[in-house]
Amino acid sequence: MTVQGGGHDAIVLGAGAAGLMAAATAGQGGARVVVLDHAQHAGRKILISGGGRCNFTNMDAGAGQFLSANPHFAKSALARYTPADFLALVQRHRIPWHEKAAGQLFCDRSARDIVDMLMRECAAGQVEMRLSHRIIDVARDGAGQYRVETDHGVFHAPSLIVATGGLSIPKLGATGLAHDLARRFGLGMVAPAPALVPLTFGARDMAWMEPLAGLSVNVGIACHDGAGRQARHVTFRDGMVFTHRGLSGPAILQASSYWQPGEALEIDLLPGINAAARLLEIKRDRPRAGGVAMLSMLLPQRLAQFFARSCLPEGQLAGLPDSVLTDMAGTLGAWRLNPHGTEGYVKAEVTRGGVDTACLSSRDMEARDVPGLFMVGEAVDVTGWLGGYNFQWAWASGHAAGQAV
Ligand code: FDA
Repeated sequence: MTVQGGGHDAIVLGAGAAGLMAAATAGQGGARVVVLDHAQHAGRKILISGGGRCNFTNMDAGAGQFLSANPHFAKSALARYTPADFLALVQRHRIPWHEKAAGQLFCDRSARDIVDMLMRECAAGQVEMRLSHRIIDVARDGAGQYRVETDHGVFHAPSLIVATGGLSIPKLGATGLAHDLARRFGLGMVAPAPALVPLTFGARDMAWMEPLAGLSVNVGIACHDGAGRQARHVTFRDGMVFTHRGLSGPAILQASSYWQPGEALEIDLLPGINAAARLLEIKRDRPRAGGVAMLSMLLPQRLAQFFARSCLPEGQLAGLPDSVLTDMAGTLGAWRLNPHGTEGYVKAEVTRGGVDTACLSSRDMEARDVPGLFMVGEAVDVTGWLGGYNFQWAWASGHAAGQAV
């Protein structure tokens, strides 16, 4: 077995967002760094992100927009490498960008600009980039050196940064390597699950949902995570789309990160509107209208027909007791649906759960009981909302580990 270039200070596993940032930071800090990845190209997920334009950060990013068993864990790294820091890097490389929704920054041209920038940053730090390397084994010897065996030889270093991401999108090279290594080195795991993912429904629901496929509506969905004093509540107001498998759209993707199997979703189809008052007003103004006409004033036509058919008696509004309309308003404001599951890792933008933060230093991502072992990026139990937060976590956690090696 060939032993590769003996003198590395750090091995980075994974040439994705967090790995490239960690490698560039460590290399520019003077460490001799090698990056190993089984893919032929670096940063493949960056390339497809944000519809090809990479939503590379969110200017509002703070620990409040992340899910984690320890909601405070992300604070330190996020505070030490901020969205403004990443934006300054983007600007130094003269990459044109724009703000889409509030705080969400995208490339004007292409996500390729971000990958090229990170590769230039790695080159500036003399990082050795080893792509198309299959990782066969990872171990730590008695002297505290990490030994990584690949199909192109063996690499040794006193520090190992694991940046191989989560399980989402296997066809882009995602594997469970980080989770396997965490278990191998005795780190705890928070059960992983697909997140930022469309939700699926059983046959009974699909029978009435299918005809609504393609329809999009603005909704509010209340979500919660944690329990007791740690419990946090948040409401996402955004678009929801009916699909041939169930529900998608930004509001659903956000809610999916919080959803637990068996739980119902509670969807407000008229967020920000006093639905009861509005329906009674329509009845007063248009007493001869029917239920479909009334609901069409507030909802897309097909959805109005669905609710009128399933919740309202036929006939003119004048003939409907007010209580029927207030009940209708209650349903529209808190429509309860029971997802069957998710579309899984093939469609999930991220993996929630992962390496338990209790085993890591929040300052530099080093394993508390395994000196020299660092876990960064999506592999860790820190999952951001939709909107550039996950990349900001990758940059911040990668930077924290890169500074430490
Ligand atoms: P990442 O997955 O980027 O990198 C892991 C690397 O490890 C890969 O290069 C992989 O090949 C390598 N690897 C894995 N297993 C290996 C093994 N066994 N051996 C060797 N190498 C291995 N986020 C955001 O903030 N804004 C956005 O616009 C988007 N858009 C988006 C769109 C889509 C379609 C997806 C799937 C995801 C997003 N995301 C996003 C999420 C974002 O892409 C994600 O959070 C980061 O890429 C995570 O960075 P990591 O470096 O941790 O993993």
